[in-house]
Amino acid sequence: MFNDQTIVITGAGRGIGASAALQFAEHGANVVVNDLDTSMAEETAQAIQSQGGQAVAIAGDVTAAGFPEQLMQTAVDRFGRLNVLVNNAGYTWDAMSHKLTDEQWQAVLDVHLTAPFRMIRAAAPHLRAAAAAEIESGAPPTNRCIVNVSSTSGLHGNIGQANYAAGKMGIVGLTKTIAKEWGRLGIRCNVVAFGFVDTRLTRPQEVQEESIEIEGSEIMLGIPQKVRTMLDKDIHLRIPLGRPATDDEAASGIVLIASPLASYITGHVLEVTGGMGI
Ligand SMILES: NC(=O)c1ccc[n+]([C@@H]2O[C@H](COP(=O)([O-])OP(=O)(O)OC[C@H]3O[C@@H](n4cnc5c(N)ncnc54)[C@H](O)[C@@H]3O)[C@@H](O)[C@H]2O)c1
Repeated sequence: MFNDQTIVITGAGRGIGASAALQFAEHGANVVVNDLDTSMAEETAQAIQSQGGQAVAIAGDVTAAGFPEQLMQTAVDRFGRLNVLVNNAGYTWDAMSHKLTDEQWQAVLDVHLTAPFRMIRAAAPHLRAAAAAEIESGAPPTNRCIVNVSSTSGLHGNIGQANYAAGKMGIVGLTKTIAKEWGRLGIRCNVVAFGFVDTRLTRPQEVQEESIEIEGSEIMLGIPQKVRTMLDKDIHLRIPLGRPATDDEAASGIVLIASPLASYITGHVLEVTGGMGI
């Protein structure tokens, strides 16, 4: 389904992004695996290669100035073209709104909104020029699209996540704008919004002891155990399917909307939530 196509996916060292990278490769794509965490990015790329697929790991911080241009150029140099950009990288840094610092607000908006915008801008020359040349030549259209990752926290708001909700709703507006601006070139832009996916962002903080280092600050990841216990207790009331998604199920939503089967779908918000929020 993605033969001869190049996919760039950010935050693909673990979790949903790593699973999506593997699934794209299984469907024939050349995959550019980005992550902040060098060893994890390399692990995903090696897993793809060991299954006979094509992948390259490009470690780096999506919020770093100039990095998006470098990432896109390396993708094109390595595989000759760019077809799909998936803006997936991110983390949460929660606090109640009245206690949220400027640093927390800015860091979370940087990774979930500003970085995806810069990635899209950096992808523009590669995606748009190829699409325009194809239209000019009368050749059949090639699959070209952007998938931005959002959350039910963005669509509905969520206690303790004003920064994350703002970023994840902002990306919906960005997506719909790109869909309108680039649609005439046949380039699609969609959102996949997740609800509750079993990754280190949702596991009990005290059990997993996972953190991410952002500009010298160590940020604990996951949900406090007492909040997680409360969420698990009424899970059937909140989620019709009654359980969190696996990372593979979440990633399949990304692959689905990026695929040529979705060739007439653009500007859409695909909720991969087990029915949460309907
Ligand atoms: N897990 C959920 O329930 C859930 C729900 C809604 C949305 N999401 C979104 O899905 C996406 C993937 O999350 P996940 O649950 O797989 O988390 P995860 O922590 O398992 O994976 C996220 C990856 O992004 C990388 N990353 C973080 N900041 C980065 C940066 N600045 N530059 C490059 N890489 C960076 C991390 O190193 C990590 O490998 C995120 O955008 C997240 O907000 C997750």
